[in-house]
Amino acid sequence: QNMYTDRQNSLGRDYSRLEDRERHAQALELVDREKLTSGPIIGGMLRAGTNPQDVTNPFDINQVLGHVSEATEAEIDAAIAAAGKAQIAWDRQGGARRALVLNAMADALEADLDRLVALLSREAGKTLNDGVAEVREAADFCRYYAVLAERDFGGPETLQGPVGETNQLILHGRGVFACISPWNFPLAIFTGQVAAALAAGNAVLAKPAEQTPLVAAEAVRLFHKSGLNPDLLALVPGRGDTVGAALVNHPGIDGVAFTGGTDTAAMINRSLAARPGPIIPFIAETGGLNGMFVDTTALREQVIDDVILSAFGSAGQRCSALRMLYIPKDSADQIIEGLKGALAAQVVGDPADPGTDIGPVIDIDARQMLESHIKRLSREGKILARASLPAGSERGELFAPTIAEVKTPDFLEKEVFGPILHIYRYDPAKLKEVAGKLAARGFGLTLGVHSRIEAFASEVIRLVPAGNVYINRSITGAVVGVQPFGGEGLSGTGPKAGGPYSLIRYAAEKAISNNI
Ligand code: NAD
Ligand code: ALA
Repeated sequence: QNMYTDRQNSLGRDYSRLEDRERHAQALELVDREKLTSGPIIGGMLRAGTNPQDVTNPFDINQVLGHVSEATEAEIDAAIAAAGKAQIAWDRQGGARRALVLNAMADALEADLDRLVALLSREAGKTLNDGVAEVREAADFCRYYAVLAERDFGGPETLQGPVGETNQLILHGRGVFACISPWNFPLAIFTGQVAAALAAGNAVLAKPAEQTPLVAAEAVRLFHKSGLNPDLLALVPGRGDTVGAALVNHPGIDGVAFTGGTDTAAMINRSLAARPGPIIPFIAETGGLNGMFVDTTALREQVIDDVILSAFGSAGQRCSALRMLYIPKDSADQIIEGLKGALAAQVVGDPADPGTDIGPVIDIDARQMLESHIKRLSREGKILARASLPAGSERGELFAPTIAEVKTPDFLEKEVFGPILHIYRYDPAKLKEVAGKLAARGFGLTLGVHSRIEAFASEVIRLVPAGNVYINRSITGAVVGVQPFGGEGLSGTGPKAGGPYSLIRYAAEKAISNNI
């Protein structure tokens, strides 16, 4: 199979069609009725866990969607023991057999798309388009890693060597991986990490974010229904500083895949460094301080569309989202006016409604953090525009998307995770200095350029580190196999998700020189 031509990315839904809207309405009704349960899932069975809690809808915090309980230490021990045993046979099966399960999982995700989209909007505040994109991305990860499993885990590769000696290289699983994921892609990143670890021949204990355990439990159930031996994938929900830390410090864990905040990654890295025993791989995808540089040749309408999507799409809760927009001082007023108009046209509201552009932020902590940042902006910068909120917005965590102007190019020390766009008017003669200040913050996730001059784009790319660069388009929405995704520096370790080298750090290599 040719990974570049034979694999097709998943298709979605079109909510301008009555049929698709009706399917969505039915799925919402089902999700509202069924009161899902999440908790430790070990050997395919839901266990008792501890510390049961309600899971609520961020748009309407009085709506209880279901319940979750936290994995206990004894449950984690049991899950690791079962996973370690099952992993040996799974690893020996080879990539082609594992690919069958991953492809079946992709089909299962697509078959359940409407229900998953409804759940994503209720549990994670995803608009319908974001929800569909997320289910598609989860399916794409499974199919893409299935291709890599077949390509790289199909048996020994024969290498050159002296006459009489056979030299071979074999890739194999490392053992049991802990996959720790964030709430902002609670299905796509959750599934992507698990699929990568499984594809490479590992077993997995997956810890979802505290805010989104229900959709994670659905994903685990779908993996099991797709033919995966349940011992190979356990769900261990719970808090980061309890369950997350227990996983990272457990001697039965052979690798950690993490996506989340930069500070959390640093903390896990320190724990792993202090852990007795073997050095294990740590794959971390973290936050960004993403900038976009516009020059005077850029097409204004295109800049406006791309900035609105990049900064406010998904309520700014993408690691890839635009935080700092740099516009040349001579064309700044025109662009700012256009942005204000476009922001006013955005519909903020219930993410489950097909007409909504921007849903809530994830929880009260996120909203309060953003409100306090607005206070800083009012003191130290200038608020240029805020979108309006619908009546009844106090039922949940709606936050008014905001455009602000700042006086320094490095106003942000770190990522502010939400729908706030910061604009800095720059003097083109000082591009190097301005871009250098952003670069000095040490992040390196996404970077945008809007220009019709190749030399300008090259200069910006040279000055600002980034794992993903986008020229004359939005800077969010990387597609599996099209824009392999991941950052540098404070933004992550790599390898990129959804790229041809994704599996390498999930695997161990064995070279065998045979003189029999
Ligand atoms: P977070 O760091 O708070 O939590 C992420 C996960 O880590 C959660 O499951 C959490 O429970 C767990 N965790 C927390 N403390 C832990 C500890 N001490 N030990 C082990 N696990 C622990 O991040 P979040 O708020 O869930 O997600 C948002 C962040 O994720 C943003 O910074 C965003 O930029 C980043 N993100 C990055 C990417 C990427 O690909 N680079 C993608 C999505 C999100
Ligand atoms: N992969 C996601 C994006 O590109 C985070 O927006």
